[in-house]
Amino acid sequence: MHLAVAIFASALVLTLALDNGLMRTPPMGWLAWERYRCDIDCERDPKNCISENLFKDMADRLSEDGWRELGYVYVNIDDCWSSMERDKQGRLQADPKRFPGGIANLARYMHDRGLKLGIYGDMGTHTCGGYPGTNLDQIETDAQTFADWGVDMLKLDGCYSNESVQAEGYPRMSKALNATGRRIAYSCSWPAYQGGLPPKVNYTQLGEICNLWRNYGDIQDSWDSVLSISDWFFKNQDIVGPAAGPGKWNDPDMLIIGNFGLSTDQSRSQMALWAIMAAPLFMSNDLRTISSGARAILQNKAIIRISQDPMGVQGKRLLKDKCGIDVYWRPLSDNGSALVFFSRRNDMPYRYQISLSKLNYTTGLYKMYEVFMGKVGTVEDTSEFTVSVNPSGVVMLYVFPPVKHRQFHGNANRGSHI
Ligand SMILES: *[C@@H]1O[C@H](CO)[C@@H](O)[C@H](O)[C@H]1NC(C)=O
Ligand SMILES: *[C@@H]1O[C@H](CO)[C@@H](O)[C@H](O)[C@H]1NC(C)=O
Ligand SMILES: *[C@@H]1O[C@H](CO)[C@@H](O)[C@H](O)[C@H]1NC(C)=O
Ligand SMILES: *[C@@H]1O[C@H](CO)[C@@H](O)[C@H](O)[C@H]1NC(C)=O
Ligand SMILES: *[C@@H]1O[C@H](CO)[C@@H](O)[C@H](O)[C@H]1NC(C)=O
Repeated sequence: MHLAVAIFASALVLTLALDNGLMRTPPMGWLAWERYRCDIDCERDPKNCISENLFKDMADRLSEDGWRELGYVYVNIDDCWSSMERDKQGRLQADPKRFPGGIANLARYMHDRGLKLGIYGDMGTHTCGGYPGTNLDQIETDAQTFADWGVDMLKLDGCYSNESVQAEGYPRMSKALNATGRRIAYSCSWPAYQGGLPPKVNYTQLGEICNLWRNYGDIQDSWDSVLSISDWFFKNQDIVGPAAGPGKWNDPDMLIIGNFGLSTDQSRSQMALWAIMAAPLFMSNDLRTISSGARAILQNKAIIRISQDPMGVQGKRLLKDKCGIDVYWRPLSDNGSALVFFSRRNDMPYRYQISLSKLNYTTGLYKMYEVFMGKVGTVEDTSEFTVSVNPSGVVMLYVFPPVKHRQFHGNANRGSHI
């Protein structure tokens, strides 16, 4: 099948998504978990403990350092924010020492800066960290509490529960959030607890009740973790890919760029592959001390544009070449597309020769923009070009639709080195 045909077919598929109007493109923001876990030791680690100060610090950075304008607007609390006890009315409450202002004030702090606040709960007796969970008879109360506080997103984990509680609870929370009248984006960890695949997971149903969902295990601060997650999603791309679309996204978990586990090339690889997957872009890092190199990758406008493409089609792996280069592709609006060449090699930069026609692009001249180097080239579909891909790194191309004008012909036959 020609890729142009595939683009057309994907655009015609009409599917239902959770009808709250939110997250028509993959959400972007910041989430505490991977970097800060359940650090509640505010006496000895005041800068990094889970407290309102941490979220305010990140909000300040997002709004002052150019993140918000690029789309990074969610500031999301994860586990370990609450008190160990519900209040006298049976409502969840924030830990009074670490969140003395309360969650409603924290939400206001975000809204005053053009940001949104996300919170965390668990469809079970306890959260994964042992804090109060949401039992079936507490769903409506908790949804109303979050709405009263002005929360904009809920991530609902699934520790300490079972299949039947999850099967009843996840859809009911969706209804309960809707019933509050406040538009609250809904992130479901449900499929990750069901093994991520049908027949246990019903992706049609997920798309109708959740805005995003975690299909697979938690990310850790290592390249092995990034690679195993990415490999799982692309191995199962024919199952999980079609589930995604505007308002409903597969979530391969947080971006760990800016932490300790990834080299520069590996950081670029995570960013590129997450954009191909139309994945939510939630950073979990320290925006107060992030290096300019990591920041440049996370703030790369071309990749963000690819990630946020309005058509919202999840990309896929086109081929796994035996030389150790994988090729990934995502169709974009206006007949554009993104290509990623990723190297599994561990020797040296590999010069990979390819043409767009070998990747089934239709006949014509194309413009290509290399997103990290900012280089532009023009190629005919049959022109061979070479990309030099670093070990565990990527070359990512933004490919523009066929250029019809004859004057481009001169350039095309030279072949390009991107
Ligand atoms: C609730 O759902 C209805 C229909 O499913 C939708 O029209 C409405 O916008 C939703 N409201 C909120 C607050 O999500
Ligand atoms: C699942 O958990 C609920 C609540 O804890 C319990 O009532 C129910 O019996 C459990 N079901 C199974 C099949 O274990
Ligand atoms: C999956 O969910 C959809 C929508 O809720 C439903 O129509 C369908 O019957 C479910 N499929 C299975 C196999 O349960
Ligand atoms: C996209 O491709 C289709 C089919 O080749 C063509 O009809 C349409 O005009 C193109 N759209 C743009 C914006 O180039
Ligand atoms: C190109 O199309 C052919 C024929 O349909 C198919 O066998 C091949 O796998 C495709 N190649 C890529 C890279 O998608």
